[in-house]
Amino acid sequence: MRIDILTLFPEIALAPLSDSIIQRARDAGLVDIHGHNLRDWSQDKHKRVDDSPCGGGPGMVLQPGPLHAAITALKKESTRVVLMTPQGAPFKQAHARRLSLETHLLIVCGHYEGVDHRIVESLIDEEISIGDYVLTNGAIAAAVLCDAVIRLLPGALGDAQSAIEESFSDPNLLEAPCYTRPIEFDGMKVPEILLSGNHAKITEWRKQQAIARTRQNRPDL
Ligand code: ADE
Repeated sequence: MRIDILTLFPEIALAPLSDSIIQRARDAGLVDIHGHNLRDWSQDKHKRVDDSPCGGGPGMVLQPGPLHAAITALKKESTRVVLMTPQGAPFKQAHARRLSLETHLLIVCGHYEGVDHRIVESLIDEEISIGDYVLTNGAIAAAVLCDAVIRLLPGALGDAQSAIEESFSDPNLLEAPCYTRPIEFDGMKVPEILLSGNHAKITEWRKQQAIARTRQNRPDL
């Protein structure tokens, strides 16, 4: 898979993707990631890429010219073009799974008030938000999306099972609590059932715990 990230801040997008599991996936050739600075496509002598919103209002809007030039230069026939924006569809594990099957992602990062909507209509395949809050820029959101997608690429995780059994494999259920040694810590013990060796009972306990945890933390699921 190849991923191109178009942003005013390539370093912000790339920093979290340059360590640990994602860097190992890059080293293993599972994913080829490139950051691009939108200013490189500015025609302006000051490298401007934004202007005030038509109709008035606060903030600045990314102009269509540099975005059009950059996206058409980076996009190929098979590219899926994703815009990171708080106005997008809420990012779910199902999006990550679907995007992990693509061969080329071009991730466009919004900034300031947003991007000129003519670009959204003509060149963007889908708009994604990583949550109902507003970040300073979409590069942070792009890094989140890339992490979630790349870890699903075959070979990216050491233990392939961990990608299957975790939270959101069943999108309506969180994972059960987990424990490790020592068996007693600061007066608190690991639940007896997990030490019983009875795998059927452990599976049933985990299922009940998962349901209880979901009710408490995510009643919306
Ligand atoms: N840019 C700013 N906030 C964002 C969000 N919540 N998701 C995606 N991109 C964003």
